[in-house]
Amino acid sequence: MIKVKNLSKIYKSPVKGKNFYSDLFNRQYKETLALDNISFTIGENEIVGLIGPNGAGKTTTLKILSGILYPTSGVCQILGMVPFEKKHGFLKQISFIMGQRNQLIWDLPAIETFHLNQHIYDIPIADFKQTVDNLTKLLDCQDLIVKPVKTLSLGERMKMELIAGLIHRPKIIFFDEPTIGLDIFSQEVIRDFVKKYQTENNATIILTSHYMEDVKRLAKRLLVINKGKMLYDGDQNEIVKKYSLEKYVTVTLERKIDEKILALVAKPITYHFPRVVYKIDKSNISQTVKLISEKLKFSDLTIEEEPIEEVIKSLFQSKNKNIDN
Ligand SMILES: Nc1ncnc2c1ncn2[C@@H]1O[C@H](COP(=O)(O)OP(=O)(O)O)[C@@H](O)[C@H]1O
Ligand SMILES: [Mg+2]
Repeated sequence: MIKVKNLSKIYKSPVKGKNFYSDLFNRQYKETLALDNISFTIGENEIVGLIGPNGAGKTTTLKILSGILYPTSGVCQILGMVPFEKKHGFLKQISFIMGQRNQLIWDLPAIETFHLNQHIYDIPIADFKQTVDNLTKLLDCQDLIVKPVKTLSLGERMKMELIAGLIHRPKIIFFDEPTIGLDIFSQEVIRDFVKKYQTENNATIILTSHYMEDVKRLAKRLLVINKGKMLYDGDQNEIVKKYSLEKYVTVTLERKIDEKILALVAKPITYHFPRVVYKIDKSNISQTVKLISEKLKFSDLTIEEEPIEEVIKSLFQSKNKNIDN
């Protein structure tokens, strides 16, 4: 459905010098390698989380996929079409929804923008009405679509933004930070909606977010990028197994003991009686458990994987030595 092979993007931006004339005739350009040889394929019905720190290349990737930008090199195909050619058949099947930018007409009610999109995409009025009805119910916002956009809250505006972007019932949707800046409750509403829309419409979705919660809940598969390079492509559960070198060992002590004794096992990362937490190398777990049972009196002991947030953080910092696969 989506095929990306050896995709690279270099931005060239003019560098301002001191002299206007020498600038004009001898313009200097600064090059930014935003995407560096990225490849992946995404099948029908998949929902994939694209994550990475600021400047990683997430928006650039989505812009190329939706035909806004032309790649410097590499192949990008969606439903067998090249996005940048912007064929009508292509545009009708995709949508690019950004959390930060809006396509709504500020002074008018959102329903006007919906109508505009109805004309752009040539949607029969009956289908249009049905879609608006269905989406407003899903987002519980029937009364909002007739109010001027400027009078809506940020969360309400995002709902309108979603409907405007989905009027043509696209099969493929690129969501770029759809929950950015929203309060926790609105984030939750958007998340639930994306999930429901995907299930009801068998849509294929790529979602970027810097809230791990979005990605954790919505996407089974993760693409992790940093500085334009792909660091990981796979199941979100596998990333912990593959890249985490440590586990958390939590011990519930029977009685208060001196930190010196706790340190006989290893240096604890936290100690708030009765709980003491150690972060232990996976290869040392059994030895540590043995030490704990020898040195400490405890009522409970649990061993847990590192949270995915931590693993991804260390992937970005490239602390782990085994990321060069
Ligand atoms: N129009 C542009 N001109 C020059 N550099 C750009 C432009 N857009 C993005 N970049 C640079 O490309 C890199 C990737 O940006 P972007 O795709 O927006 O990252 P992300 O969405 O992951 O934060 C960054 O270093 C950014 O500064
Ligand atoms: Mg971005």
